[in-house]
Amino acid sequence: MKKTLALALALAMTLSLAACGGGNGGETQQPSGGSNAGTSANQPSTGGDAAPVANKDKPLVWFNRQPSNSSTGELDMDALNFNGDTYYVGFDAAQGAEVQGQMILDYITANIDTIDRNGDGIIGYVLAIGDIGHNDSVARTRGVRKALDTAVEANGTIVSDPVGVNADGKATAVKDGKLTIGGKEYTVRELASQEMKNSAGATWDAATAGNTIGTWVSTFSDQIDIVASNNDGMGMAMFNAWSKENKVPTFGYDANSDAVAAIAEGYGGTISQHADVQAYLTLRVLRNALDGVDIDTGIGTPDDAGNVLSDDVYYYNAEQRSYYALNAAVTAENYQDCLDATKPYAPVANQLSQDTHPTKSVWLNIYNSADNFLSATYQPLLQNYDDILNLNVEYIGGDGQTEGNITNRLGDPSLYDAFAINMVKTDNSAAYTSILNQ
Ligand code: BGC
Ligand code: CA
Repeated sequence: MKKTLALALALAMTLSLAACGGGNGGETQQPSGGSNAGTSANQPSTGGDAAPVANKDKPLVWFNRQPSNSSTGELDMDALNFNGDTYYVGFDAAQGAEVQGQMILDYITANIDTIDRNGDGIIGYVLAIGDIGHNDSVARTRGVRKALDTAVEANGTIVSDPVGVNADGKATAVKDGKLTIGGKEYTVRELASQEMKNSAGATWDAATAGNTIGTWVSTFSDQIDIVASNNDGMGMAMFNAWSKENKVPTFGYDANSDAVAAIAEGYGGTISQHADVQAYLTLRVLRNALDGVDIDTGIGTPDDAGNVLSDDVYYYNAEQRSYYALNAAVTAENYQDCLDATKPYAPVANQLSQDTHPTKSVWLNIYNSADNFLSATYQPLLQNYDDILNLNVEYIGGDGQTEGNITNRLGDPSLYDAFAINMVKTDNSAAYTSILNQ
């Protein structure tokens, strides 16, 4: 386990200068003719006289929020094995968290002479937490604490609870860290951390983060040397509200286009979770299941249009029925290659033929239409790949608060050939599978 992680990490580090783009110049081939032939919106294509497929037997992909217990992180294997064509697509949260922690540590090391703004000998940071019940969020909090030596463990894992405020360093969820840089020892303190949830219940809430940084600054002012965030949506809100003007390095996650562009203006860095690979996989597993071909087609094995992924950008865990993209740091060194987060990944941007891959219809939801990553990066990528893969996708945007707001709009699943689901809460798979089971 440790070894795999170390390997994955070594791999990610060597690749960190090539976080974006990929291969052959990014030219998307044009469809080989007849791309609009015979498509009819939102009619399941049951294929001539074949009997209609029951909803419970249609391909299903969970993405971005892995069916799991929000307290323990344990995977919900019933949901992941809903039927023989069920998968999850996400990214390797632990590997990404290590890369994020390392990126921040590298920045501190490189800027050690100037990082301590008030010269009190303590490197102070604040941390915006996305969703305390989301395994990706938990992993990122742990990754930052581990790298900065502020982590404490309970039952063999790093505590990921928010500290609230920790002015005196006495909070129990963290400890004061010690970093030795250039032969000198420095203290690091997590001055404050909080889940950024708004009053209506939406998590990863950028507006809440933008307000909270103001509160933190009024308490800590120039004790804050670094701003860290579980994602770019919250990171950019804090950067725009305060840290940009005060030249305090701010680190996020997702490599959204606006965050990457902000690196030119002092944003410290971000992590690409390879949304370009994830969005492809999300629709590709459905395409393959609908085509009745091997699930590895166009993934580890080239398809008839030449699409294929190399194993430095993803891996598949068969037991977990899960595809995981790998993460890479985007910093001042390489950000220029990553300015457009919505560009399809070149090795899998070749148009499928309409003859062999006729149009199918897919119902897909985004848990919160206001989520920066999902709406500004992931969905635009999906919209590029749905054309490439001949999928007619209906996009449903949720309110980020209740599954009901989304499932209400899955009135008649028999209208679709396949489903792609982004839950509000990782525990709630049954809200969807119960509809498909009817
Ligand atoms: C992203 C966040 C996003 C969350 C939504 C994460 O993978 O990094 O930005 O808010 O997914 O579930
Ligand atoms: Ca200080």
